[in-house]
Amino acid sequence: MLNPPKKTIRDIDVSGKTVLVRVDFNVPLDIDRNVVDDTRIRGALPTIHYLLDHNARLILMSHLGRPKGQVVESLRMVPVGRCLESLLDYPVVTLKECVGPRVKEAIEKNPGAVILLENLRFYPGEKENLADFSRQLAELADIYVNDAFGTSHRAHASTVGVTAYLPSVMGLLMEKELETLGGLLEDPARPFVVVLGGNKVSDKLGVIDSFLEIADTIITGGGMCFTLIKNMGLEIGNSVTEEDQIPQVANAVKKARKKSVRIMVPSDFVVADRFDKNANFKVVAAEAIPSDWMGLDIGPATVDKYCSVLNGAKTIFWNGPMGVFEWPSFANGTESIAECIARAVATTIVGGGDSDAALRQFGLEDKMDFVSTGGGAAMRLLEGKKLPAVEALADI
Ligand code: 3PG
Ligand code: MG
Repeated sequence: MLNPPKKTIRDIDVSGKTVLVRVDFNVPLDIDRNVVDDTRIRGALPTIHYLLDHNARLILMSHLGRPKGQVVESLRMVPVGRCLESLLDYPVVTLKECVGPRVKEAIEKNPGAVILLENLRFYPGEKENLADFSRQLAELADIYVNDAFGTSHRAHASTVGVTAYLPSVMGLLMEKELETLGGLLEDPARPFVVVLGGNKVSDKLGVIDSFLEIADTIITGGGMCFTLIKNMGLEIGNSVTEEDQIPQVANAVKKARKKSVRIMVPSDFVVADRFDKNANFKVVAAEAIPSDWMGLDIGPATVDKYCSVLNGAKTIFWNGPMGVFEWPSFANGTESIAECIARAVATTIVGGGDSDAALRQFGLEDKMDFVSTGGGAAMRLLEGKKLPAVEALADI
């Protein structure tokens, strides 16, 4: 439960109103500027359909990439608008600006279309959360809806500033994300097993601290686990490590003992003689990593051990790959763990990092109960921190 509870689009009358919807259409594009992964666009469809079905006029807005307050031709919203139109089966008009008289005119001229504004980050006022830019956005509509969970950790004009000028509620994706991820910290079905991977332990210490309050087991892999292994006094060769994080890792391990949470580290690794797709590789025990080799994946004994824990779980949260899954020689750990999670009878929730990319690579994304559209935002929420864009919405 959100504290305080916030209004959603179901709590207000949108009929006949013009609704300005902040979505997170920050999606990857290929070299020809086609949308490579439309997950975030599909994620916003329930809110868009709801508003259209309830007779609202829609103006959507998003950022794309990180242009620094100026126009970058390759980051225009046109391909995103095209993708949305094909998914929505409803006309979408993509504008080349976000505010001003030409935008207002285009909105008036196209009553039968969904309007998509240009990339918000072409305007310096967006990231700086300037009142003037927020007010100009608000002038376009009667109601503001935030459905951009993935951007809810940013206090920008389109996520926070605009709420000063319009009735402001959340969309259905935002609601689902907050309920699902927030629910993990409240009352998860047990055993609750957390799987953490990815490169840097420093990125994960906040969520580890949070999960030590509620999880039963934390399974680790990826580059981050080498700092844990180093903390155990083992040699890790040339594997990635963050020496300066060892005291924090030691504290987390101490806290885990106190809270009776099991933190698991790999017992074997696939090691490589260099960081290269075509490197020589072999499987070694965790205590036998050769001094000039590096661990690039968890080994088969670790996979077996982790899968037997996952098989018994009732709730699983997964964030971060177990190895360099983009390279076939080092993909087995991530793929096997993803398959175990897919097969598990548990409620399975995946959030952030590259785990969603890994799921897509292995064709398993439909096998999870919930895949979050947020990276940084999901982590922030799971660290138990407030999300400024959510805080700014109207209380019930
Ligand atoms: C994301 O992809 O992380 C969100 O869209 C937010 O983008 P940002 O990290 O550039 O603020
Ligand atoms: Mg980000």
